[in-house]
Amino acid sequence: MSTNSDIVYTSVKNYYGKVLESSKDLKTSACTTGSAPHPIVLDAIRKIPTAVLDKFYGCGNPIPLGITGKSILDLGSGSGRDCYAAAALVGPEGSVIGVDMTDEQLTTARENIDKFGETLGYAPNLKFLTGYIEMLREAGVPENSIDICISNCVINLSPDKPRVLQSVYDSLRDGGELYFSDMYADAKIPEAMRTHDVLLGEGMAGALYTKDFESIARSIGFAQPRVLAISHIEVHDAELKALVKDIKFYSVTYRLFKAAQPDEKEIARGQTAVYLGTIAGHEDKYELDVDNVFAKNVPMPISANTAEILATSWLSPFFAVEGVTTEDGKELKTASTESLMENALSASCCKPKQESSECPGQSGCC
Ligand SMILES: C[S@@+](CC[C@H](N)C(=O)[O-])C[C@H]1O[C@@H](n2cnc3c(N)ncnc32)[C@H](O)[C@@H]1O
Repeated sequence: MSTNSDIVYTSVKNYYGKVLESSKDLKTSACTTGSAPHPIVLDAIRKIPTAVLDKFYGCGNPIPLGITGKSILDLGSGSGRDCYAAAALVGPEGSVIGVDMTDEQLTTARENIDKFGETLGYAPNLKFLTGYIEMLREAGVPENSIDICISNCVINLSPDKPRVLQSVYDSLRDGGELYFSDMYADAKIPEAMRTHDVLLGEGMAGALYTKDFESIARSIGFAQPRVLAISHIEVHDAELKALVKDIKFYSVTYRLFKAAQPDEKEIARGQTAVYLGTIAGHEDKYELDVDNVFAKNVPMPISANTAEILATSWLSPFFAVEGVTTEDGKELKTASTESLMENALSASCCKPKQESSECPGQSGCC
């Protein structure tokens, strides 16, 4: 790792290990109206020890349903809220690994596993590894071993994002997915802002411009990035507001599948997919992304890319995909991330730093 990376690591470890004591100390809040945790995930969160919840520093809700028995990896797991919730959802047959570089956060994460097991009624298959998300092999995550990698407001903190995505890609099984929430900007962050300690810690200094991120993901081999949720992040601190000027920040939940990419463009080829309604919590409909929402038992025209994902990924048991026969050349419209950001901005609504019993451990939840 270069000296620049070392500076970032030291600053970020200091921020999450020493400066912040609880979620209430954060200086921004992700407005999660559109992506508040699903009631099934909330049920799991309510079982998590308070010490873990108090140090939750995420900016979204990247925990998919339908993951019973799956192997989950959480990048930058912090005190472990999302790992604990995922451990409840995968059940005794599944497994969850959290990777983080900050000792203080890992101590909280590890100390509460036994207590959580007592609440669950079984010892969860849950462990926390010390390491860097750019070097998952060195941290102890085997290649091709993970079904779903999640992450909550962490990749923006990495000094080498292409390396993180490559490391995740190699960790995933074929048909696996990186399902994660992170902080993005509507412009490239100027160099002068990139070394400010608080901006670094809060994630703004490292927030990627969405277009740059999507192009890195494609170049590594992920299928076309899918946006599942997007919301505006409010900056409350006056000093930080002055520093970021008119750059706008967003929490975006992306889905990146390790699946073949049959077409460069989203071209319809006469395929359809039917959602079988078999994911608990999504009995009536399933939202793959903002463009592809499937009502139960209703055949939907899909692109070649979406057909590949639904037919070959971990989601395949939940869908019937048919008809890769004729190419009619009709283009399916996909919303650009920029237009989604504009919508999120006009929908901004957050009451800063609010936490409610509806949303434990989720400050900034409207
Ligand atoms: C914003 S907090 C989010 C923690 C957790 N995901 C949550 O939702 O509470 C960022 C976490 O990522 C960890 N982190 C940041 N960069 C990392 C890296 N390159 N490798 C490993 N961990 C990292 C930090 O130590 C910190 O615990």
